[in-house]
Amino acid sequence: MSILVTGGLGYIGSHTVNALIEAGYSVVVADNLSNSKAQVLDVLQQITNKNIPFYQIDVTDEQAVNDLFEKHPIEGVMHFAGYKAVGESVLQPLKYYQNNVLSTITLANACKQFQVKKFVFSSSATVYGDNEVPFKETMSLLPTTNPYGETKAMGERILKDWVNSDSSFAVSLLRYFNPIGAHPSGLLGESPNGIPNNLMPYVTQVAKGKLKELQVFGNDYPTSDGTGVRDYIHVMDLAEGHVAALQHVTPGVHIYNLGTGAGTSVFEIIQTFERVNAIKIPYKIVNRRPGDLAFYYADATKAKDELGWYAKRTLEDMCRDAWHFEKSLNLIQIK
Ligand code: WQD
Repeated sequence: MSILVTGGLGYIGSHTVNALIEAGYSVVVADNLSNSKAQVLDVLQQITNKNIPFYQIDVTDEQAVNDLFEKHPIEGVMHFAGYKAVGESVLQPLKYYQNNVLSTITLANACKQFQVKKFVFSSSATVYGDNEVPFKETMSLLPTTNPYGETKAMGERILKDWVNSDSSFAVSLLRYFNPIGAHPSGLLGESPNGIPNNLMPYVTQVAKGKLKELQVFGNDYPTSDGTGVRDYIHVMDLAEGHVAALQHVTPGVHIYNLGTGAGTSVFEIIQTFERVNAIKIPYKIVNRRPGDLAFYYADATKAKDELGWYAKRTLEDMCRDAWHFEKSLNLIQIK
């Protein structure tokens, strides 16, 4: 029996494929390569020393998904495949709703048809909207500031209603905070196409000289140093959180924050990155980015109490591993 990982060649998906195999699972990967690179499969097979069946398919394609379920006995699905650029989602909402919502429905239908009972859904802290901090799983969700966030909230609602109609299905909704860092080998990491939207890949590309300087989106927020505060979590911790959720999932719907429970400002990220890697990050303060919240971080107690999981890696680990990966990029020789 295998775990189907959609978006398994992407940043978080690939780290989770590695963690699943390390935990003894067999994995099948589906990815349409719209925001990932085929060579990540070679890296995963090299790191895990396992052959990983891979299907370059779009998981909104019902026939392609059913063909895969016909070929492989699947015991669970981890659904990462989805567009995730907040700004892009404002400009192209229909693309986001079509892809992110339809893919979830298509996969749930396949699970129903093939009686695959376990489903782990990649959600996001964005679904909390401008709630009070720290974000707790029991909170009512508020409207988000972007279609991307709405697709995640809709995905959660669709899966909740599905399980309400058939409680034999076991669904875990995982709300990520800000994943950064990379696999310690330097072979897996975050290499977005084009100019990075997110903070850490932008910082590593400035460190590498690929980009001139970091633009700090505002230093007039009501935070300790005026810059935005987020809950940054090492992607390896996040991946291990997915394995824990799969191992513990029982019939019904279960929601977990995957964060550290600590808030870190943009300036603190810059300072930590510079100290750990002995490198200077030039930056310029610019206007706030529309839609950004001032600060948020997780109440991470539920995952610890129920899954026995908590984030172990430090901000230093995140900055060190992110830079190690960036330096290794283009040097990766696939054996
Ligand atoms: C972090 C902080 C920015 C870039 C988004 C999505 C969220 C999740 C993670 C998918 C903020 C500041 C950033 C830059 C900056 N994605 N910043 N200069 O916006 O918290 O979360 O990515 O699930 O759903 O909303 O992440 O890394 O873009 O920003 O000053 O060039 O860094 O203002 O305070 P964000 P981010």
